[in-house]
Amino acid sequence: MRSFWVETLIVSFDSIEKSLQQPSLYLSCQPGTKVRCRQYQKRLSSLEDATRKINEVAAKESIMLHTYLTTSWHFRYPIIGAPMAYVGRGRLAHAVSQAGGLGMIGIGSTESVDFLAREAAIARGTDQTRFGIGMHAWALERRSDLLDAAIEANPFLISISFGSPAPYVERLHQYGILLATQVNTRVEALQAEQAGVDLIVVQGTEAGGHVMGQVSMLPLLQAVLDAVQVPVLAAGGIASPRGVAAALAAGAEGVWVGTALLASQHRAGSSTYCAGPGNRYHSHPRVRCSAGAGLAPAVSR
Ligand SMILES: Cc1cc2nc3c(=O)[nH]c(=O)nc-3n(C[C@H](O)[C@H](O)[C@H](O)COP(=O)(O)O)c2cc1C
Repeated sequence: MRSFWVETLIVSFDSIEKSLQQPSLYLSCQPGTKVRCRQYQKRLSSLEDATRKINEVAAKESIMLHTYLTTSWHFRYPIIGAPMAYVGRGRLAHAVSQAGGLGMIGIGSTESVDFLAREAAIARGTDQTRFGIGMHAWALERRSDLLDAAIEANPFLISISFGSPAPYVERLHQYGILLATQVNTRVEALQAEQAGVDLIVVQGTEAGGHVMGQVSMLPLLQAVLDAVQVPVLAAGGIASPRGVAAALAAGAEGVWVGTALLASQHRAGSSTYCAGPGNRYHSHPRVRCSAGAGLAPAVSR
């Protein structure tokens, strides 16, 4: 599929070419005619310029990554900054989206609706940047106010993970908000597709944060890709261009990166987040940073 830019250039190319074919213009430039042919030459050089530009844009686009996230959701890069409660807030989300991916705000179960509204305003910024909000299904069961506030903030994407997203699909779609969910098994992926989610994120056991599954990313990704038609992203231990390339080569439409972004100056909380023994965070046994932490300094440069 040709991009908008290539299409526009081709239209202008056609119109210059047509104007050059006007007999009066052409004749005025024949050898021996006394009429000045500056207009003809000017258009001829615009035609050469247009040809060069079409070739340049087409060459550049052929080396760009094209996945569902870039062609349908128009991200520059097929990368979503994973929601990380208490560390990934509006500032980080804004920075990730500005850099060409989609940044997400992580909302924890104890956070207030005012906090959510404030962080969403920071993520959106004065330039109306797109952003997402990530929430826990188990938290929404007793905090429906958080979902109301998230809808009110009008993000591009909401993720509801670690429980069924099914009860929320219709409502979010009514508001024109897309819904993603992280899955840890093939069956969960099938259920999420059946429920009508827009994006499935395969979370392998390599992942940081809450990890509910028992299968690592690559085996799970292969199983899920064979089972569903919905766009699928890979999450867990991805922290470098090699990791992104591997996930895309396996068939993912993009990646969902968390731990590596903790090296960013835009994260909230301490820079030694992932440096503690066993990379534990909040001293919660099931919440941790992933191996991506080791690669994070390279990513943050
Ligand atoms: C510190 C931290 C906090 C996290 N908090 C959340 C969260 O609040 N909600 C959520 O859906 N996922 C959360 N996650 C999981 C991420 O969404 C994602 O699955 C994970 O970061 C991907 O693996 P990676 O960390 O190796 O990139 C968290 C991850 C980390 C590292």
